[in-house]
Amino acid sequence: MSHADEHAGDHGATRRDFLYYATAGAGTVAAGAAAWTLINQMNPSADVQALASIEVDVSGVEVGSQLTVKWLGKPVFIRRRTEAEIEDARSVELNQLVDQGAENANRPGENALDENRSLDEAGEWLVMIGVCTHLGCVPIGDGAGDFGGWFCPCHGSHYDTSGRIRRGPAPTNLPVPVAAFVNDTTIKLG
Ligand code: FES
Repeated sequence: MSHADEHAGDHGATRRDFLYYATAGAGTVAAGAAAWTLINQMNPSADVQALASIEVDVSGVEVGSQLTVKWLGKPVFIRRRTEAEIEDARSVELNQLVDQGAENANRPGENALDENRSLDEAGEWLVMIGVCTHLGCVPIGDGAGDFGGWFCPCHGSHYDTSGRIRRGPAPTNLPVPVAAFVNDTTIKLG
């Protein structure tokens, strides 16, 4: 074997090693992609959904009060509205609103009339993510602000009894998350 051949042999071995590792690497990537596709197809997969959902017992929430629960790291306001609050919310015309979209994950694309934001038809229950849509402070509830709903003191955003932005810098209504009654006294979030 000439010196040159030995050299070529070395190169061959090196190249095979390289190919071997490259193939192994590609295999790993492919397996990762397949796993991701599977999870994505099951979107959301049962276990992810279990983690992302919580059930809240609202049997102790009196009319005219609010329960705040933490869900996915954010406060969620669950308010049981008074007749007056419901009437207030339902007497508002769309053209009085800054954000005319319902911002309700349960009713995508609907307008911001109160009927499209409350959880039940009668409008007694309002569920919203309690994070100001301006810069993320947590608004104060229990009739705060100029519209009797929620008020964000950070920069003065006023939300009405339907959680819709009425005055101040916040651009959109407080969002309504995916939520539903699973029985008379339990609301499931997510
Ligand atoms: S964060 Fe609420 S008004 Fe700015």
